[in-house]
Amino acid sequence: MNYNNVKFMAAYGTSKQLPPSRRAEVSFAGRSNVGKSSLLNKLFNRKKLAKVSSKPGKTSTINFFEADSADFVDLPGYGYAQVSKSEKARWAEMIEGYFNQDRDFALVVSLIDIRHPATALDVQMVGFLQTTGLPFIIVQTKADKLSKSQVSRSTAALRKQLELGPEVPVVAVSSEKGTGIDVLKRLIDS
Ligand code: GTP
Ligand code: MG
Repeated sequence: MNYNNVKFMAAYGTSKQLPPSRRAEVSFAGRSNVGKSSLLNKLFNRKKLAKVSSKPGKTSTINFFEADSADFVDLPGYGYAQVSKSEKARWAEMIEGYFNQDRDFALVVSLIDIRHPATALDVQMVGFLQTTGLPFIIVQTKADKLSKSQVSRSTAALRKQLELGPEVPVVAVSSEKGTGIDVLKRLIDS
């Protein structure tokens, strides 16, 4: 993948609006504020490719970005309590609707905050990926917030909590410091 070449394609507010996959899709899923949009920006070294906010709930549509050999999909976050019931339902529809379609899922990047155990919804997300057999990896975000030894402990704890086999890659990254980004790029490329 050439990470110097990317452009915003389109945003969709419901899964029904989604056109069929044009080609392989690399999708970013995780709780609100976990750092999905920041990670996309870091991968492509573009500060304003995807909108980032310190407030959860920033990405409220399914956003497609076109890179040279795959499309990248920034999904709305799940688990944000401070929005209306109808808005929550709309976000759930987008995420579930996206994954329930017959799409060209090349890789799902499941993001989990490195400072905390997986939430109930994270567990549900990873469980879904495991049972459906979609290709996925886990990225632990905000690694700069912990020391090196805390990072290794958190990764081991997460593997245990989610009962991950050795075939599932878990990579700790920091979109602030750039930690783990090369490893992640290699995983996406493979
Ligand atoms: P939604 O769009 O609301 O679902 O959130 P998101 O998952 O796209 O998160 P976003 O990228 O908007 O980042 C949320 C907040 O976390 C912002 O304040 C970011 O600056 C911060 N953040 C993201 N990645 C990192 C990181 O690696 N380290 C640190 N320290 N902060 C980060
Ligand atoms: Mg976002």
